[in-house]
Amino acid sequence: MVEKKRLLVVTGGGDCPGLNAVIRAIVRRALLHYGWEVLGSEDAFNGILQDPERVDPLDLDSVRGILSRGGTILGTTNKGDPFNFPVERPDGKLELRDRSDDVIRWCREHKIDCVVSIGGDGSAKIAQKLFEKGLNVVCVPKTIDNDLDCTDYTFGFLTAVATATDAVDKLHTTGESHHRIMVLEVMGRYAGWIALASGIAGGADHILIPEIPYDLEKVSAGIKKGLRAGRRPYAVVVVAEGAKPLGGEALVTDPGKPGYGMPRLGGIGLRVSEDLQKLTGIEARYTVLGHLQRGGSPVAFDRILGSEFGVHAVDMVAHGKFGQMAAFKTPGMTEVSIAQAIANYKVVELDGAMLHCARGLGIGFGD
Ligand code: F6P
Repeated sequence: MVEKKRLLVVTGGGDCPGLNAVIRAIVRRALLHYGWEVLGSEDAFNGILQDPERVDPLDLDSVRGILSRGGTILGTTNKGDPFNFPVERPDGKLELRDRSDDVIRWCREHKIDCVVSIGGDGSAKIAQKLFEKGLNVVCVPKTIDNDLDCTDYTFGFLTAVATATDAVDKLHTTGESHHRIMVLEVMGRYAGWIALASGIAGGADHILIPEIPYDLEKVSAGIKKGLRAGRRPYAVVVVAEGAKPLGGEALVTDPGKPGYGMPRLGGIGLRVSEDLQKLTGIEARYTVLGHLQRGGSPVAFDRILGSEFGVHAVDMVAHGKFGQMAAFKTPGMTEVSIAQAIANYKVVELDGAMLHCARGLGIGFGD
């Protein structure tokens, strides 16, 4: 019999379909199986660092009916790193302070046995630093980008792919009718998984991803060759927001401020469509899918995966597996050290099966 414990759940970084499935699973496993208590801090650690405090007990009622809901009932932020916490000075300027001791003190005072941190790479890095300072932490990997290492999938990814695939399908019909090049910009900061998967699923002609610097002359030559024989050409190009030309860099719309998240990427869809129009002489249009990929109801796979992560994370606490991240490695759940999980991004492997499939289908990558 494991002694009665008290967990604090936080969701950090960008939201992601399936977060509520994880929260629900954590609460149900902790309460129904172990008889523990669960608290939730709003907007990552901001709920305990800001005045007034925003921390609530999570019971079976609070997680009823949330499985199919997008977003997170706890709220989230990418402006809440306790080690670089933005604090407004009396003169209105922002100053970054290390408030990690406040987090640890709060957890001790409230007799928290473990923090379950649901988040992406940034949240996992914060969790690792808190763990190194003595806090018991368990991580659950979340990102639509699917770029967290040591897990085959993160929940949210396949929902984003479904949304992007639907967009590719729609761009085909309008692109074909007007004989245009249709460019779709999707998310994917360091890794092109969403672009690659939706490009294959939607039958794109070209896919541009951060892992393969592109040459638009090659994309243009491919389009002009008339892949769709006997008809006036049209083409669908899916481009990840982090894609870069040979010798160039990803486009940034806002470099951001320290402590206030990462630089914002964007603009590559417009750039690629304008350049392809010039190079091919074919009219081009672009669409930026943006946060539609993060919103809405999770597909069944993400609900199942999120539920598995939640149950496993609570079991990890029961077995004292602190400083570790739940991971899905076929055929099922396991765990890895957070340190190992954050050492590298999981990018599209150049010799991997998915890229092999795409190339086998004749999809171009601008290389
Ligand atoms: O981490 C997922 C992600 O969707 C990235 O692909 C994207 O660059 C980022 O979030 C955008 O986040 P936000 O608009 O919330 O700053």
